[in-house]
Amino acid sequence: MSTDTSVFQAKRLVVTGAAGFIGSNLAHWLRVHRRDTSLVCVDALTYAGNLANLAGLEQDTGFQFVRGDIRDAELIGRLLDAGVDGVINAAAHTHVDRSLLGGDDFAGTNVGGVQVLLEAIKQRPEMRFLQVSTDEVYGAQGPDERADEETAYRPGNPYSATKSGGDLLTLAYVRSFGLNAVITRCCNNYGPFQHPEKVIPLFVTNLLAGKPVPLYGDGLHEREWLHVEDHCAAIVCVLETGRAGDIYNITSSERITNLELTRRIVEIMGRDERSIRYVQDRPGHDRRYALNDGKIRGELGWRPRHLFADGLKQTVQWYIEHQDWSSTVRSGEYRNYYERQYGRRIAT
Ligand code: NAD
Ligand code: DAU
Repeated sequence: MSTDTSVFQAKRLVVTGAAGFIGSNLAHWLRVHRRDTSLVCVDALTYAGNLANLAGLEQDTGFQFVRGDIRDAELIGRLLDAGVDGVINAAAHTHVDRSLLGGDDFAGTNVGGVQVLLEAIKQRPEMRFLQVSTDEVYGAQGPDERADEETAYRPGNPYSATKSGGDLLTLAYVRSFGLNAVITRCCNNYGPFQHPEKVIPLFVTNLLAGKPVPLYGDGLHEREWLHVEDHCAAIVCVLETGRAGDIYNITSSERITNLELTRRIVEIMGRDERSIRYVQDRPGHDRRYALNDGKIRGELGWRPRHLFADGLKQTVQWYIEHQDWSSTVRSGEYRNYYERQYGRRIAT
């Protein structure tokens, strides 16, 4: 049990990556549940960033959007000097398949960008910092294993290797300079505003377009699925009550195979197994992720509220009802990416 009972309550918070999936959900969550905290939402608006995800917040006086890059030290310094007392870093290059194709600068943002933020915070010692990280840094777990916060780093793809780099830098800055920083590591998220390159929105929008869904390998890879709102609540819980220098795993412990996930999506959408196309596997595809999150539950009292069975149905319904949103995202650059990623993928 933690003996440190101090609670951090942000007056003015920078959220980076705020036009992405988790960042935008977090901005909405904070404006509902933390009305006294004003937000400076920063995003470079890469292909993954979408201002439509923040719709409804424009008129809110506690919300400000700044288009900017976390690698821009001058901009970050200026933003932090405007009364900010905390930073949540959700900016990252996040798609494993894109990291395998090369191209996007994963190390530039996921390592270099984190270092820019840490340097800025080092010069402002009162500032609280939360680095949003992932279960992927632990790599694949064996059949009976669950990674806890002490488990060694074993990233299996370029994305997770760069996320590990960001985590290691954060811990090094805590140790070297006493930064007031915490790290969260979460399992797979689902919910509204997720880019349709990721499996759930990809499969739903493919089915809506009358296309098959490309299931990698034998489909028996396992992932744990947490509703994004539960992740947002956990991030804020750790920001406010987590011990400086500590890591907190976050999961629903609802673990299923990709095949089971695909069958559920297909069934919710009233299709059958003929919609499933088994395709060539992702290189180095981690077989199974499994987290032990006893620490955040035992020490900080966080619990998920959503059950996957219900949350998945609601999420599928959200994508069905927001086809304007997804068709905009699936146009332009996405078409080139889709062709590169799936065009020559051999059916197995
Ligand atoms: P996302 O790709 O939807 O959003 C990332 C956002 O970061 C985008 O809006 C993008 O424009 C922005 N961005 C990228 N580079 C930037 C830069 N240099 N400067 C400023 N903004 C930049 O990703 P997401 O799923 O919302 O993930 C957010 C964070 O959560 C990431 O750190 C990711 O590793 C972590 N995470 C995600 C999941 C998940 O299932 N999605 C699970 C665990 C952890
Ligand atoms: O585990 C947390 C991670 O979850 C985050 O750190 C990442 O940022 C996030 O993108 C997500 O990574 P995954 O690789 O698990 O997500 P993705 O949706 O790409 O894939 C989920 C599973 O589905 C994975 O085992 C691969 C499989 N898959 C994915 C795609 C895109 C398919 O079978 N076919 C597909 O077309």
